[in-house]
Amino acid sequence: MNSYSYMALGEELDKDAYVITKYRVSTDLPIEKAAEAIAAEQSTGTWTGISTLNDDVFSKYAAKVTAIDGDMVTIAYPEEDFSIRVGAVPQILSVISGNLYGLGALKGVRLEDVEFPKGILRQYKGPKFGDKGLREILHHPEKPLVGTIVKPKIGLSPEDTAKYIYEAGSGGLTNGKDDETLVDQVFCPIEARTKAVAEALDRLREEGHHMVHAINISTNGQDIRELAEDVQSWGATQLMVDVITCGYGAVQAVAEDPKIKIPVHVHRTMHAAMTKDPYNGIAMRVIAKLVRMCGGDALHIGTLGVGKMEGAIAEGKANQDACQSDDVPFKKVMPVCSGGMFPGIVPKVVEAAGNNVQIQAGGGVAGHPEGVRAGAKAMCQAIDSAFEGIPIEEYAKTHHELQLALDRWGTK
Ligand code: 3PG
Repeated sequence: MNSYSYMALGEELDKDAYVITKYRVSTDLPIEKAAEAIAAEQSTGTWTGISTLNDDVFSKYAAKVTAIDGDMVTIAYPEEDFSIRVGAVPQILSVISGNLYGLGALKGVRLEDVEFPKGILRQYKGPKFGDKGLREILHHPEKPLVGTIVKPKIGLSPEDTAKYIYEAGSGGLTNGKDDETLVDQVFCPIEARTKAVAEALDRLREEGHHMVHAINISTNGQDIRELAEDVQSWGATQLMVDVITCGYGAVQAVAEDPKIKIPVHVHRTMHAAMTKDPYNGIAMRVIAKLVRMCGGDALHIGTLGVGKMEGAIAEGKANQDACQSDDVPFKKVMPVCSGGMFPGIVPKVVEAAGNNVQIQAGGGVAGHPEGVRAGAKAMCQAIDSAFEGIPIEEYAKTHHELQLALDRWGTK
């Protein structure tokens, strides 16, 4: 029986013929052995030599370990290992991020990055609207978008949700969204909520303000497209899908549905189960790249080292780059900073993320001492101070709502 080596250190590869991955590997084995175990398991090998593997199959389909740098291993998978039209992201993930986590010889392995060849990227459509499309809908060309998540997460009626959104829009917010745990509960049925919020947004539009609200349509695979179409017909201006709980296929099905003419906001609830451990799981930037391929128009990327969500600035920047880089043939995704946002934190977020970002606050709007409209105004004032480069404390001296927010929550 032939014995095959998956090592190809230093080999120059045609980037258009391989999917190139980077893994951080923790192991008691020599790192070369661990890297080879991954390349074998995820392509043509298994735990032992097998009589059915021949030179032809190996030379065409075996993965190659092309670099090892400390605990970082680069593995290249031939493009032919992937099944994109039928299979798609589920199949991609089962190759680059599948069985390898279970290998007993590895103490930990984290998929840090992935690059796809043009031939695979061409089979995806990417966002229909992207950041620019979203800005056009909102008539908001330059400043950061500023949004809210209706709070409490659950419990409000459709009428109270619509009232919240009307107040938030009257205070100047551009974006509203359902929270990830709200879909179609008895206290807030999705049809009634969508219609009530649509009326509130129409009223705002008549008063000269443009705002969208993402209705959470996260549900079973067999229902999500129909629900998206229904929700759109009830007047929704944006849809929200939880990508980790629903799957990438759900985002793609909704985004690529030709009948859907509104943007898709992608929430990442549950992502931390796989992204939080620095030595095991999947980096958020990989999730962001897949969401962009599948057509998400906006994506939660973390809070760049501030806010309540875990994740350092560098990680947030990498996620932002995955949403915005020019090296893939897709529209750019609007990066969303959400989780523990409040006015006093805005300058730090804008400093780290720049102006092409959507900053949204739930508690940081609804917790304002003078209510939702004042909370929305305070967020907008904070954005204005950052956009104009005026220190927030200075700006607050002439902006009552911002001053109250700073008094309550301070700055960062
Ligand atoms: C989200 O969907 O990102 C969270 O519900 C944010 O809520 P918070 O602004 O109150 O932290």
